[in-house]
Amino acid sequence: MDDIKYDSSKDYGTPKKVSEKQVTLNIDGVDVTVPDGTSIMHAAQLSGVTVPKLCATDSLEPFGSCRLCLVEIEGRRGYPASCTTPVAEGIAVKTQTNKLADVRRGVMELYISDHPLDCLTCSANGDCELQDMAGAVGLRDVRYGYEGENHLQAEKDESNPYFTFDPSKCIVCSRCVRACEETQGTFALTIEGRGFDSKVSAGNESFMDSECVSCGACVQACPTATLMDKTVIDAGTPEHSVITTCAYCGVGCSFNAEMKGDEVVRMTPNKDGGANHGHSCVKGRFAWGYATHQDRITTPMIRKSIHDEWQKVSWDEAFDYAASEIKRIQAKYGKDSVGGITSSRCTNEEVYVTQKLVRAVFGSNNVDTCARVCHSPTGYGLKQTLGESAGTQDFDSVMKSDVIFIIGANPTDGHPVFASMMKRRLREGAKLIIADPRAIDLVENSPHVRADYHLNLRPGTNVALISAMSHVIVTEGLVKEDYVKARCEWDSFETWRDFVALAENSPESLADELGVAPEKVREAAKLFATGGNGAIYYGLGVTEHSQGSTMVMGIANLAMATGNLGREGVGVNPLRGQNNVQGSCDMGSMPHEFPGYRHVADDATRALFEKAWGRPLSADPGLRIPNMLDLAAEGSFKAVYCVGEDIAQSDPDTQHVTHALESMECVIVQDLFLNETAMYAHVFFPGASFLEKSGTFTNAERRISPVRRVMSPKNGYEDWEITAKLSKALGYDMDYAHASEIMDEIAALTPEFKGVSFDKLDELGSIQWPCNEEAPEGTPTMHVDEFVRGKGKFFITKYVSTTEKVNKKFPLILTTGRILSQYNVGAQTRRTANSEWHKEDVIEIHPHDAEERAIQEGDWVGIGSRAGETVLRATITERVQPGVVYTTFHHPESGANVITTDNSDWATNCPEFKVTAVQVSRVNQLSDWQQKYETFSKEQIELTENAIASPDAVVE
Ligand code: SF4
Ligand code: SF4
Ligand code: SF4
Ligand code: FES
Repeated sequence: MDDIKYDSSKDYGTPKKVSEKQVTLNIDGVDVTVPDGTSIMHAAQLSGVTVPKLCATDSLEPFGSCRLCLVEIEGRRGYPASCTTPVAEGIAVKTQTNKLADVRRGVMELYISDHPLDCLTCSANGDCELQDMAGAVGLRDVRYGYEGENHLQAEKDESNPYFTFDPSKCIVCSRCVRACEETQGTFALTIEGRGFDSKVSAGNESFMDSECVSCGACVQACPTATLMDKTVIDAGTPEHSVITTCAYCGVGCSFNAEMKGDEVVRMTPNKDGGANHGHSCVKGRFAWGYATHQDRITTPMIRKSIHDEWQKVSWDEAFDYAASEIKRIQAKYGKDSVGGITSSRCTNEEVYVTQKLVRAVFGSNNVDTCARVCHSPTGYGLKQTLGESAGTQDFDSVMKSDVIFIIGANPTDGHPVFASMMKRRLREGAKLIIADPRAIDLVENSPHVRADYHLNLRPGTNVALISAMSHVIVTEGLVKEDYVKARCEWDSFETWRDFVALAENSPESLADELGVAPEKVREAAKLFATGGNGAIYYGLGVTEHSQGSTMVMGIANLAMATGNLGREGVGVNPLRGQNNVQGSCDMGSMPHEFPGYRHVADDATRALFEKAWGRPLSADPGLRIPNMLDLAAEGSFKAVYCVGEDIAQSDPDTQHVTHALESMECVIVQDLFLNETAMYAHVFFPGASFLEKSGTFTNAERRISPVRRVMSPKNGYEDWEITAKLSKALGYDMDYAHASEIMDEIAALTPEFKGVSFDKLDELGSIQWPCNEEAPEGTPTMHVDEFVRGKGKFFITKYVSTTEKVNKKFPLILTTGRILSQYNVGAQTRRTANSEWHKEDVIEIHPHDAEERAIQEGDWVGIGSRAGETVLRATITERVQPGVVYTTFHHPESGANVITTDNSDWATNCPEFKVTAVQVSRVNQLSDWQQKYETFSKEQIELTENAIASPDAVVE
């Protein structure tokens, strides 16, 4: 019954059920009609009757252990638990009788007799279901004393930096255990022992030493103060809450920022969140403390040279200085000597105003974004083949997939909340194929999940793999020809079919290149083509290659050939790394495209923007980040406005990037912290954290979600205001009173966003674009009846091996990735307790390669490539295959990008981060680069300290 109105502030006790069949029953004299399969407890809540409960909650399947929710059913014997008893047609249920009241009081009495009576001083006072239930059942006295055996002295576990476990308050309802299993899929908790001795256990270890990944699902589910946020213990229970969106990864989880005055006390995942449905990971749930970290700079600063001390100035002085520098440089070197870089960490509105500033005020199209170094091939490849630069599904679609194919992504670390949903589907029986050089957790290290095929190909051979799989599908007659005929350009299909059918593309011919047994490739391909709904999820392990765009097109080819596009359960799904990768690309942050992926050379589009912005606009695509850096190093690119992006850490070949930055005359950085790029800056605009501003983020499923200001900006301005004020100082008014007005402008100028507004977002919670007259509430699944480009187009994807070759000097391949607890360059997560899980980047090396080099666990090793050298600690593991080493890039001093080369994707310049030929050897001191880095960062911190120490600047 879709017209049932749910209130997310209520707990319906058991999950909502969906069924064609409706059942009518009578509860306490009132008739209620609900979908078949609904529990009596849930039906009662819908009819306005609250049944007492403890072990049930609507995010978990019912368990029936506490016996508090008993009811009477006319004509049935006994007192069934309403949480585990489904509705039946025509039954009459009583939830409130004297007998039931007695039984419930008795149950509560037993619980309370083994529970500390410290409600008034308990940190959950007022927010405790046990306390509420004692009141609800009218418990006034406890007849049993505390003299007998009890759990009141049980020891607290405070090992987790974010929450405590106080077993003296535990009622063994097992909600935490079930949350860890059902919601998170980690299975870290069990109930140990029986009867009175039963207790929650994290495998007989502290939470910190256990399998726990600190997602917070158990804390969320716990009805007592047993599992409790430390921030609530410190600050007390929150007073009000505001819905906003996580500022970390591309899953885009919705959260309630729970506040006390102007301070956040807790971030709880929003049950109504379209992407996360009430779940979270350790980053969004707990790692928000960086927003008030002491390193944060909240006042503007300027300096003439990067070796000068920073001068703290007023905002007006900072804007005037930056504007005068931009004008001076453009007058001297030409308008193309200046550009802007936006970030996927910014809101849509911030990205939009930044690209507008560059195009309308700087007068060029020299604007680029960090998607350049991650998902630019996705934009290119999907636009070419399907007609739209975006993923095709919503996350929920995975629950209808039969075969899940993950290529070059590590969802449990990079996209943890989506990974939990995916694991649930895998536990239900969906098949799993993983193509990754490294054994990610989903291969066989996640409870009750095991990949059917792990295609552990050599780094850099993705396109060979997709050709080999396509070869099998074509030559074994597994193409869905009806689908292809109806939906795709037949000519392009035939050309592609004939190409992949060539013997050179067979798994056998490519076996040496791939390093994967041909039978395995054949079986995986057959499974994908014949196993039902096949869904492809991919990440940077696809895009960050010299053939990144080719591989994206190869993936789209495979999906079209097998008929796996245009409905739920299937699709091509890029898992975006940062929170707003999709949005920053949508907003026109690439040098060749206006918002909505319209080329700058298109006269009609340009005329539209010229009219709206009142300035002439250039028809020539501007500079990409690598072009800006190359020209800066050569001396013709002189100034950059860099908003929220840390190119000195995140871009390849660090020494080239820093040399380019050093060569510029004016580097303007807008950020929360003095990041690596800011060390080379002349103007520092302090930015606002996501908690201090309004706007929107667009996640990997095209879901636009609201970001809402929950506290005033510590720096004085939201980031879009800073850009608008810089624009004004340059003589161009951006007259917005609020971020919502920027979204109104975006909607007016961009067809896919036509129906989007802040008011509609408040009403619907989130919207997946396209949102327009045809789809006023958004579009969960794309390309349903036809592709955005009309007919889908197949492209030839010839495998060309990378020029980055191993040889005697550099015999190993280095590949890179992420870890759950840290986020990207680490600027935020390194300033939280998340660092307790990952204090430093290490290099993973196979035992065979380690032995050859006499490397022991924990040794310092030098990693040298054609670009540079760095030193990390080694960890020896069979997760990586012989010949491959792996590291993360979350700590600047690790210098992971000192060794990555400037090889890049042929179509988009996305760097080939995933393939660097290296040598690894034992060393006993830091690399030259690291020593220089240490000296330079020390100098820069000293040059900042005086400015930070002086009184705050005033916001005019
Ligand atoms: S925090 Fe998450 S992973 Fe850890 S025990 Fe709780 S539910 Fe399991
Ligand atoms: S810790 Fe909380 S959720 Fe877990 S069994 Fe105890 S009371 Fe229930
Ligand atoms: S980091 Fe990603 S998965 Fe974790 S809470 Fe934030 S959006 Fe969700
Ligand atoms: S709530 Fe039904 S048995 Fe616990």
